[in-house]
Amino acid sequence: MYLTREEEKMLAGEMGHAVQVAMEILVALGEIYGAEKMVPITSAQVSGVSYKNLGEAGLEWLEDLSKDGRVRVQTTLNPAGIDLEKWREIGVSENFVEMQKRVIDAYLAMGIKPTLTCTPYLAENMPRFAEHIAWSESSAVVYANSVIGARTNREGGPSALAAALTGRTPFYGLHLMENRVYSIKVISPNLEDEYDFALLGYVVGKQSKGRIPLFTGIRSANQSELKALGAALGSISGTPMFHVEGITPEYTLTPEDRVEEIEVSDRDLENASEELNDDVEPDLIFIGCPHASLEELIMLIERLENRVVKKKMWVCTSRAVGALAKKLGVYQKLERLGVTILSDTCPIVAPINELNIRSIATNSVKGVWYSRNLNNLSIKLAKLSELVEEAVRD
Ligand code: F3S
Repeated sequence: MYLTREEEKMLAGEMGHAVQVAMEILVALGEIYGAEKMVPITSAQVSGVSYKNLGEAGLEWLEDLSKDGRVRVQTTLNPAGIDLEKWREIGVSENFVEMQKRVIDAYLAMGIKPTLTCTPYLAENMPRFAEHIAWSESSAVVYANSVIGARTNREGGPSALAAALTGRTPFYGLHLMENRVYSIKVISPNLEDEYDFALLGYVVGKQSKGRIPLFTGIRSANQSELKALGAALGSISGTPMFHVEGITPEYTLTPEDRVEEIEVSDRDLENASEELNDDVEPDLIFIGCPHASLEELIMLIERLENRVVKKKMWVCTSRAVGALAKKLGVYQKLERLGVTILSDTCPIVAPINELNIRSIATNSVKGVWYSRNLNNLSIKLAKLSELVEEAVRD
């Protein structure tokens, strides 16, 4: 792999310990994937923040890097295991909080912004079309590639951090135009709302085997719908990107050969909904996976129609969107209606099993997928309107 003089110095340890460790990771990755060189990046999004997933070994690794590592590009953080302001209210143990704060402190020492959200593109990290970036967090990766047209592979936490510390990433995969072309064509059914988009992502994710799909037959799609489609697709499969004919910026990239075509029917969406539903009485109703946008918070207010929530209902959003919602009175209104708004975290990365929550209801396919497979919870998948009716019922 070709390295510039500066990159060679990084690898030789002449620019510090953390940079050397980072460059070793990137060179190893580049060699595995056949990259010819590195490419400069403009932004990084680092996952691997919750102490629940990192554990002691992960924390020690970060603290070691934080001694002399400083990021070279705008870098933001994925959600942690706690809401930094409301952790007592939620009931997380002090021991967990202490370890979680050490993780965040290590990232802060490296110059990373503590955005603690999986929707950096709604907070302070919005790349431009065609920029090379290094993002981890599958839903954000899919959104960045597909909707924004920025270029990133599906990084893991360590490789995204390594890219941030060196300002570059190996030039392979989705950084090359030829790999951004679709290789499976999907004829979509009529989609009503973001719930249908998420189910479509699930159905196609199960069949795509990592291939990039082109969705046809979708007449319009808003930000929440594209976010839900990408989050479902990215969590069920390794797919890093999708195109929607007439909507996303690179849908005209055309493959040289004929590709497989699949048709998804209404029945397929119904089957998916049944597959992802244990039909339980939920201990927690959860909205905001990926973290809710301002529009989604407003939509929740509209659905509640001034009715007060009687069950435990969490809405997760970024602190940046939360601040905007406070300015507009949206946040206060939701709180008055009994909704708990959390930032910095979500039930998937929080130590949920410590909190006496055994079942969860959500409108997010990604949320139910990980609740079932990572957290071992019973799940209920439902439209936002059904979740609201469940929440206000006595
Ligand atoms: Fe974000 Fe948690 Fe869902 S990190 S994408 S809200 S699983």
